[in-house]
Amino acid sequence: MTRSTRKPYIAGNWKMNLDRARSLDLIKTVKGRLGDGGDREVAFFVPSIYLADVSAVAQGSPLGVGGQNCWFEANGAFTGELAARMLREVGADRVLVGHSERRHVFHEPDEWMGRKLRAALDSDLLPIYCIGETLDERKGNKTERVLKRQLESGFEKIRAEDAHRLTIAYEPVWAIGTGETATIEQVGQAHRSIRKWLVQRLGEDAANLMRILYGGSVKPDNAKELMAIDSVDGLLVGGASLQAETFLPIIEYDR
Ligand code: PGA
Repeated sequence: MTRSTRKPYIAGNWKMNLDRARSLDLIKTVKGRLGDGGDREVAFFVPSIYLADVSAVAQGSPLGVGGQNCWFEANGAFTGELAARMLREVGADRVLVGHSERRHVFHEPDEWMGRKLRAALDSDLLPIYCIGETLDERKGNKTERVLKRQLESGFEKIRAEDAHRLTIAYEPVWAIGTGETATIEQVGQAHRSIRKWLVQRLGEDAANLMRILYGGSVKPDNAKELMAIDSVDGLLVGGASLQAETFLPIIEYDR
């Protein structure tokens, strides 16, 4: 399977934005526009408290709905946390793991990532595993090393047969919410090194099933050129996913 046979995946990450009414409006608008979806996969990662309502509205459409984080235990004394199975129970079919804000604002360590990915898969959720370097790490020529470290921790409990349910998002931390997008060369290079690692770890057939998304200041005016990069299989969009006027043109990047 190559880029041309992997279905493009356009995902919106609302983070801690919108309110219930605006969330439901946005889902209705995108659902109406998507029709039967067909040639691309579209999903929103929504605040967990809105998951049940949002997934009820999305029902009957190809729109995916996911949580933005989960904990790896199924039960227990973990005040404030949510088990993957709980997200599933209220209608989520996917989840983000290792988003840079979880890693850098809430100091989630690499050691949690493998267990979180395993818990998500075991609860029948489709995870997007987010990785990416900080500005200091890029300036210090450590990008490849950081990506490799993040992949190694995340894939601790991943087997080749999990590959078709798992997606990677490359999101350079310095490009998230800053208006600064990585250059075509930087994105291409990072994506190629991620794919090379996946091939070594899982074998060519399994690795080729996996999509690698780019995230970090994706906007309607750069979506087409990012999707034109051969090694980019989709986009993870923050700010521009909060309004139909900016998200629909990204979904329809090639029209
Ligand atoms: P941004 O966020 O598009 O607002 O830069 C991307 C993300 O954090 O997933």
